[in-house]
Amino acid sequence: GSRTMSSQPTVYVTRPDVDSSGLELLRKSCQVSTWNEALPVPRTELLRQIAGKDALYCALTDKIDKEVLDAAGSQLKCVATISVGYEHIDVEECKKRGIRVGYTPDVLTDATAELTLALLLATNRRLFEANKQVYNGGWKSWAPMWMCGQGLKGSRVGLFGFGRIGQEIAARIFPFKPSEITYTTRTERPKEAKAVNARYVNFDEMLCNSDFIVVCCALTPETKEIFNADAFQKMKSNCIFINTARGGNVDQKALYEALKCKRILAAGLDVTTPEPLPLDDPLLTLDNIVILPHIGSADIETRKEMSRITARNILAALAGEKMESEVVL
Ligand code: DGY
Repeated sequence: GSRTMSSQPTVYVTRPDVDSSGLELLRKSCQVSTWNEALPVPRTELLRQIAGKDALYCALTDKIDKEVLDAAGSQLKCVATISVGYEHIDVEECKKRGIRVGYTPDVLTDATAELTLALLLATNRRLFEANKQVYNGGWKSWAPMWMCGQGLKGSRVGLFGFGRIGQEIAARIFPFKPSEITYTTRTERPKEAKAVNARYVNFDEMLCNSDFIVVCCALTPETKEIFNADAFQKMKSNCIFINTARGGNVDQKALYEALKCKRILAAGLDVTTPEPLPLDDPLLTLDNIVILPHIGSADIETRKEMSRITARNILAALAGEKMESEVVL
C-alpha cells in the first residue's frame, strides 16, 4: 500500500516523458510516481510499482492483463491509456473488477488522418526511394519514366474501417479526385459516407477492386491478421496497401511475400509486428515499401492534449465522475 498521510490517491505513470502538462494536472491532487526511462517499463517493475495504486496511467506499450490487475490490488479504480487503441488492456477483466478504463479518441483523429495521407503519398509517389537517389548518385538526369508512381486521381480507394479516423482520411483523399472511395465496416454508415461520396462494399469487393487499400480499423479478434495471404492474393497487382492502424491486422509474412513477388505494387506502414521492427526484418530489404515508426498521432499539440486527457480521465474516475473518454464496457 502507498497511501500517504495526506491520503491523496496514488497514480503510477509508465511514461515519465509524456507532456508535463498532464502530469501537473495529476500532481495537484494525487501522489504521482513514474517510471524513469523513456522506454517501456519492464514488466517486473510494473508489477512491483502498481501494487497499492489507485490509478494507472499507461501507454500502448504496456500490456495490462489479469496479472497486472492482480498485482495492483482491489483498490485500483482506473486504467487510463494515452492512446485511442486499447487492445493492450484486458477490458473484460477490468469490467469484472469495476475498474474504469480511459483512452484518448477524437483528439488524435486529424493528426492520424494527416499522417496517413503523408504516408500514402510518400508510398505512391515513391518519395523515399527518389530522395535516396539524390544522395547516392542515382539522379543522372530528368528522365521521362523515371521514379514514376501511381496517382490517386482516377483511382479506387478502399478504406478498411470507417470510424472517426477512416472518415477523416476519406475527407482528405476526396480532393485528390479518386474515381471512387469505398469502405468496408461491420455496419454501414450511410450518413457519414455521403459527405465523401463513399460507397459501402464487402471485404471481397474491396480486395478485388481497389487501387489503394487503407487500413484504419481497430485491432480486435475479428480484424486480427485479416490481411493474410488469401487477401493479398485477391488484390489487383497495382494495389498499394497502407496501414496506420495496428501491425496485428496484417499477416506480415504474407505481406512480405506479396511485395517481394510483386503480387501487389507497394505498401506503406506506420505500424508493424513487432515494434520496433528488428533491423534484420525481411521487410527492410524491399524497395517497394515505406515504413514509419508508429508516428500517426505524433503531432505536438495532439500529444500534449493526449497527456492531459489521460490525466483528466484519471481525475474524473478517482472522483467517481463522468470521464472525458471512457471505454464503454
Ligand atoms: C493510438 O492512440 O492508439 C496510437 O496508435 C498512438 O497514438
